[in-house]
Amino acid sequence: MHNIQWIVCEDYEQLSAAAGHIFERQIIEKPGSVLGLATGDTPLGLYDFLADRCRREGLDFSRITTFNLDEYYPMQPDHPQSYRRFMNEHLFSRVNIQSAHTFVPNGAAADPQAACRNYEALLDRMGGIDLQLLGVGHNGHIGFNEPGDRLVAFTHVTDLTQRTLQANARFFNSIDEVPRRAITMGMGTILKARAIVCLIAGADKHPVVEAMQTDWISPACPATFLKLHANVTVICDRKAYEG
Ligand code: GLP
Repeated sequence: MHNIQWIVCEDYEQLSAAAGHIFERQIIEKPGSVLGLATGDTPLGLYDFLADRCRREGLDFSRITTFNLDEYYPMQPDHPQSYRRFMNEHLFSRVNIQSAHTFVPNGAAADPQAACRNYEALLDRMGGIDLQLLGVGHNGHIGFNEPGDRLVAFTHVTDLTQRTLQANARFFNSIDEVPRRAITMGMGTILKARAIVCLIAGADKHPVVEAMQTDWISPACPATFLKLHANVTVICDRKAYEG
């Protein structure tokens, strides 16, 4: 069988705390850690947990560097729905991280291909990701590595699927306002992280959990590629686990 370690939690609060303890330990054991971060609703409880630990117990982010998985393209960083703004709001402004140490793909780049190459190179220069946080889309996407005939190894510009546009339309006035493309770390970028924590909540993500528990790997469900990594912990709630 594959290497994924499963932690099944009773509810979302437990899931967030379980993830929070892993990130807290990482930051304490290696104060200069490079963390890979994700957006979406699922990590919000984890970000609350970390902000709380920083405020109450002085969990120290001053030497932490972060790289986010993805950003819409085109997208101005100060747009209310940009992932840069999401991260500033939900985590960076609430902990003592240096903003110059927080990286999100540049959705406003004039040359997005160059932005992708630079992001990948910067990540390597910083020594790679120690601990990568992931969520999953309903269609099994990771970051914005969407299901398809093939996946792309490194940071790249991608077209979003109709399913993802629909899922993310809830944040915009209408589906027509959702950017059709995004810059995302590739599957190889993600699998280079030394450890991965993947959060899955809600019965509607159960089909992804099921696919991750089989022994096949397919670009039709990008989350199945996590089976190729030696150090993946999936933390899910009972609804996602049991359907
Ligand atoms: C977005 C992000 C993913 C995220 C996914 C699930 O499209 N690009 O990184 O994991 O949606 O989001 P949620 O946690 O809100 O279901």
